[in-house]
Amino acid sequence: MIMKIFPSLPLSLLFLFLLSYPSPSHQQSDHTFANPRLEKAYEALQAWKKAMTDDPFNFTSNWYGPDVCTYRGVYCAPALDDSYIQTVAGIDLNHANIAGYLPKELGLLTDLSLFHLNSNRFCGTIPYTIKNWRLLYEIDVSNNNFNGGFPKVLLSLPYLKFIDVRYNYFDGPIPSKLFDLDLDAIFINNNNFTSKFPQNIGNSPVSVAVLAYNNFQGCLPPSISKMSKTLNEIILEDSGLKGCLPSEIGELTQLNVLDVSYNDLSGPLPESMGEMKNLEQLNVAFNMFSGSIPESICSLPKLENFTYSSNFFSDAPYKCLKLQETDDRLNCIAGRPFQRSASVCKSINDYPISCESLSCDY
Ligand SMILES: *[C@@H]1O[C@H](CO)[C@@H](O)[C@H](O)[C@H]1NC(C)=O
Ligand SMILES: *[C@@H]1O[C@H](CO)[C@@H](O)[C@H](O)[C@H]1NC(C)=O
Ligand SMILES: *[C@@H]1O[C@H](CO)[C@@H](O)[C@H](O)[C@H]1NC(C)=O
Repeated sequence: MIMKIFPSLPLSLLFLFLLSYPSPSHQQSDHTFANPRLEKAYEALQAWKKAMTDDPFNFTSNWYGPDVCTYRGVYCAPALDDSYIQTVAGIDLNHANIAGYLPKELGLLTDLSLFHLNSNRFCGTIPYTIKNWRLLYEIDVSNNNFNGGFPKVLLSLPYLKFIDVRYNYFDGPIPSKLFDLDLDAIFINNNNFTSKFPQNIGNSPVSVAVLAYNNFQGCLPPSISKMSKTLNEIILEDSGLKGCLPSEIGELTQLNVLDVSYNDLSGPLPESMGEMKNLEQLNVAFNMFSGSIPESICSLPKLENFTYSSNFFSDAPYKCLKLQETDDRLNCIAGRPFQRSASVCKSINDYPISCESLSCDY
């Protein structure tokens, strides 16, 4: 489902810019290199080809000889610090289904700004030597078999804007520094990260944050409101959230998509959510929310799809049923079909949740 909402990262304008540069057309004789950086790139790419154990589409079958700029998936451009020489500026092996690992020699690709490896079978870790990718702007290693801790080396790359490591086997804590960086998008969903829910997430200037399907624990911090100027989409499906939603969430007025489904959230939906005037998609299903749904939420001008099934809501204004797309099944709403049993609903009503008393250890 997440794949559907966010296909792979958009190829940035920068990438199109790179593609529009022709690679050097003259043929070089064996092992003479146009410049020392291309010689290093050759060393890196040959080491990588050796580290590939299966290439079912023969994607890298033309990866031989000194003219690395003609290799499939390798894109050259004039060096940023010397426009008279060509260097390897982009690598795109998306959907090649190649198996193997990333050798440390990849660190020799010092002019790389794009690295796209989406949908392959690379395993192991991201080598620390990529700390030399000082110009890297976008990294997408999603849908591979990488494991180990979060690749901390990414946190040291000064121009990095897009981090996509989703659908791998990374585990352990998320370094809090990730949310202090000047990034545009963070995709870390569908891994096995286990830290406390990042309490400094509000520091992040991203427009898209997808943390879903990890094993975080903790509450959404009130400081999430600091993302109000930049955040458009946040997907927190099945990410171990507990406690109540902070009323500060209502300050996210640029947000189009909010998904907190499949967590352990409880208490009411804050009335302030009725101020999220750009909200189009809202999914709070499969939690333990209760109380009345504020009418102001269902009156939001752009709201198209509001899914609140499998909670303990006691009431939903008629307006909520008039939305284009809605799902209210398995709640405690009088007069609606497919609700929970009267006895379950009574026990919830008899013991209302006190958000103040829920511990969050911020
Ligand atoms: C890849 O190359 C091998 C050896 O040349 C060939 O047998 C195989 O059919 C090729 N596979 C594809 C998908 O082109
Ligand atoms: C995630 O981590 C837990 C606990 O360490 C482990 O039991 C589980 O198998 C892991 N899941 C995956 C998909 O790696
Ligand atoms: C509405 O949202 C739910 C939950 O995210 C989703 O399953 C459903 O497909 C959406 N409906 C439409 C028409 O987009």
